[in-house]
Amino acid sequence: METQTRSLLDQLPPERRAEVEERVETLLSELTLEQKVGQLNQLNADFATGTAVGDMDVEQGVLDGDVGSVLNVADLEEARAFQELAVEESDHGIPLVLALDVIHGHRTIFPIPLGEAASWNPEMAELSARVAATEAAASGVHWTFAPSVDVSRDARWGRVMEAAGEDPYLSAEISRARVRGFQGEDLAADDTVLACAKHYVGYGASEAGREYNTVDLSETALREVHLPPFEACLEAGVGSVMNAFSLYDRVPASSNEELVRELLRGELGFDDLVVSDWNSFGELLEHGVAGDLRDAARACIEAGSDVDMVSGAYATELVDLVEDGVVDESLVDRAVRRLLTVKGALGLFEDPYRYFDEERRSRRLLTDDHREAARDVARESQVLLKNEGGLLPLDDGGDVALVGGLADSATDMLGAWRAEGDPDDVTTLRATLADRVEGLTYVEGCDRDGAVSDEQLEAAVETVASADAAVVAVGERYSQSGEAASRAHVDLPGDQRALLEALVETGTPVAAVLFNGRPLAIDWAAERVPAILEAWFPGVEAGPAIADVLLGECDPSGRLPMSFPVTEGQIPVYYNRLRTGRPAEDADLTEPPSDPGEKYLSRYLDVPNEPLYAFGHGESYTTFAYTDVSLDAATMTADETLSVDVTVENTGDRAGTEVVQVYLRDPVGSRARPVRELVRFENVDLDAGASATVSFDLTAADLAFWTADDEYAAEPGEFEVQVGHAADDIAAVETFELVE
Ligand code: NOJ
Repeated sequence: METQTRSLLDQLPPERRAEVEERVETLLSELTLEQKVGQLNQLNADFATGTAVGDMDVEQGVLDGDVGSVLNVADLEEARAFQELAVEESDHGIPLVLALDVIHGHRTIFPIPLGEAASWNPEMAELSARVAATEAAASGVHWTFAPSVDVSRDARWGRVMEAAGEDPYLSAEISRARVRGFQGEDLAADDTVLACAKHYVGYGASEAGREYNTVDLSETALREVHLPPFEACLEAGVGSVMNAFSLYDRVPASSNEELVRELLRGELGFDDLVVSDWNSFGELLEHGVAGDLRDAARACIEAGSDVDMVSGAYATELVDLVEDGVVDESLVDRAVRRLLTVKGALGLFEDPYRYFDEERRSRRLLTDDHREAARDVARESQVLLKNEGGLLPLDDGGDVALVGGLADSATDMLGAWRAEGDPDDVTTLRATLADRVEGLTYVEGCDRDGAVSDEQLEAAVETVASADAAVVAVGERYSQSGEAASRAHVDLPGDQRALLEALVETGTPVAAVLFNGRPLAIDWAAERVPAILEAWFPGVEAGPAIADVLLGECDPSGRLPMSFPVTEGQIPVYYNRLRTGRPAEDADLTEPPSDPGEKYLSRYLDVPNEPLYAFGHGESYTTFAYTDVSLDAATMTADETLSVDVTVENTGDRAGTEVVQVYLRDPVGSRARPVRELVRFENVDLDAGASATVSFDLTAADLAFWTADDEYAAEPGEFEVQVGHAADDIAAVETFELVE
């Protein structure tokens, strides 16, 4: 079960590989120590995600040969100017690598990554990354700091919008596809960019969901929950990894030898580039694990971290550290070799300007094809949380009231991390419905930040009361999730609850459309609002994609990649939890317990243990049944494959898409095992009345975990295969035994 890491060099055809290796070694032998250290120094050109650090002027630094890469370059003109300085005017003439956070689209903005993961469709993730790479590479970007692969179970953390949710397996499959999409087959092609798996590792476990907060993880949780998506990226050949800001075992990830040198480089075999996060080397001082920048630089280079994003620690300290005999020069050489290999793989030595073609840029951005791809992904990312009485899709021909500032807010549709996204490119829900629904009336009802004035409320109630149905857009502003956007309360901000309740009171059927970057705690809405469609921040094609679902042009096929809590007090709440010694699965939670057998259980007095909407949940406009689930054997050995056949039938009267979900449960292990774990899934499109059989092959690798012997192994014994519509909606359970 070793991770099959594919290095950048392994991905090159033999001849190019030899050329790159030779070029890199020649350069290394020619560079002075100062120049080598300069390569490891990354500076910021424009937009900053933290205090600007260090005092080096970017232009001067590039000219002096003291900079190896630059992030956040504004445009092609600036990119070309920097590259000219590096190649034509610096002493060594080594081209720069230019980096940007291209997270969910470059100019054509796609749904936020959490939304995209709700498609449960790796092809969609690959497609959006492919389009993003095509546009970014045409805009002078060589290197994207994506994908974020942080597994997180905390809806308070703003960065859950950036990754693929709470589950290691779904995250791994989606992240693997994103790397494929960004990097393609040839990094030197003019439509691919270097990807970066981040944030290594465990950042998603920030305590209390507070950004940049402490992380305290067991090794087992690290390996079983947080590591799998990174392993998937390494297998897909990701060329760089970014250190997390967080601690592991009380040592910051950037200087953590156990994490970087031993686990990532040693055990997982990753020998390409590791870049710090923004000033994360400098933050060793704040963490109190280094007394000064010199000590921080020493610790980070020794841990195996190569490139210093903006802290200046390497630039100011590494030369002295080597000259004083504290740091071995071979460590510097190794890090520089990795960066130069990246430059070679990107084809920058042959043509440092190959990404700077204005004409290509004008042809490649926001094309019709790209918009169409954005619409496809946005269609598949929506999750129908509830649909009482089949309110959706909306009937033809009725009067529809559309309410909510977000329905008309182009900028919010882009979400956080929007690269070159432009609100002017967005088609809003209001614009689309105005075109496609004849009897549409729009009324604002609330501002995009959720504030509702008396006048707005009155006008909205009046309009909704006289309509046949209402669509109410509620949620967060885009800046309420993303980096540095933790929220302690994850209900709808402002007065949106009061607005929705007043509109439901009118008696007109109300469908709420949610725009948000995280799971929300909306139990009151789940109780009172007949239909709720989760649209996340859907990108430039927000309006058309949502209208396609609201009007029944397509079936809502998204499923939740992260549980929605009943209330913040349940967090972290996630499906693949461990059992406790006092499970409360069947407890009656309506009455305060008096029977000691009911009272002394792992439960709350005031809310259920279960989330409001579980991982994997999502309704369709039709219904599905699993008519047959079977295993091809009752036993398997570690070398055998077990086949799970699932026959799924569309039992409704419309075409639709079911996401067949296969979970495993290992009832007894040497360490406590989760109640279930996702191991396979597949999207199945079925016409009304049609059925299909899907087969999934399981091997011992699927049964393996980090055992009490501190190794990955599958332990013999009984296992359950659970096939379901969602983690809380298991339709069939079959058992088999792993025998020696
Ligand atoms: C800090 C963020 O944590 C990281 O994800 C991002 O890539 C860098 N800033 C650069 O913008």
